Amino acid sequence: MARVALVTGGSRGIGAAISKKLQSEGYSVAATYAGNDEAAAKFTEETGIKTYKWDVGSYDDSAAGIAQVEADLGNIDTVVANAGITWDGFFHKMTPEQWNKVIATNLTGVFNTVRPVWPGMRERKFGRVVVISSVNGQKGQAGQVNYAATKAGDIGIVRSLAQEGARAGITANAVCPGYIGTEMVRSIDEDVLNKHIIPQIPAGRLGEPEEIARCVAFLASEDAGFINGSTISANGAQFFS
Ligand code: CAA
Repeated sequence: MARVALVTGGSRGIGAAISKKLQSEGYSVAATYAGNDEAAAKFTEETGIKTYKWDVGSYDDSAAGIAQVEADLGNIDTVVANAGITWDGFFHKMTPEQWNKVIATNLTGVFNTVRPVWPGMRERKFGRVVVISSVNGQKGQAGQVNYAATKAGDIGIVRSLAQEGARAGITANAVCPGYIGTEMVRSIDEDVLNKHIIPQIPAGRLGEPEEIARCVAFLASEDAGFINGSTISANGAQFFS
């Protein structure tokens, strides 16, 4: 039977590439989205991948949504916690709302996504958890105290989950993308992108979403069973950790 994968934020950007890659590898994929009904409907029409709408920042909505996915597709054994937002600003201007919203979506969202599927993975003695972190969680980034905190937190989450899940056949790993050519990155002020960001990428270009999707597919595979608590960096040599 096909493995079932849940990809949060799976209908756009890096998440869409992950959903499509896992589908091409034979998974039954459920992709979640938060708000953009039109993009989600278009994605389903183009790919045949089912989409589900909920706010990953809400535990109750996540648990209910996950129960629905499992009723539709079967037990989830692969979960990709990808949903994330930015709300950048220098720290001296950052508001509590800016901080709380990014923490709720990017960090609490990982708890809300993985916690409901974890007991089933333990029972079935198999699971794959992949969390999409960021180069900016590894190195920090001016203007992203909130976002960098969540992405550094992802690394702590997978290292801890790895130790808890290893004997139950569950792996938990993070992928740290660098700057990838998605809407999120393209919405950075062009001047800032060209003056401060691209020159710091030795590859001289933004990454492609598919380059991240291939890392995720590898970590999700049976072959990657002894890789646990790791971080794969895919950033065009921008940063080494
Ligand atoms: N390094 C050095 N200097 C920087 C800088 C940086 N990363 N970012 C901005 N500056 C400079 C600007 O050039 C500007 O200097 P000048 O006045 O001399 O031109 C000064 O700081 C003020 O910058 P802004 O006018 O842009 O200030 P602002 O308050 O309007 O905006 C900001 C601040 C929102 C943080 C904006 O600078 C910005 O978007 N920076 C980019 C932050 C970033 O990298 N975000 C990543 C988003 S993508 C993502 O997060 C995906 C991922 O995982 C990699």
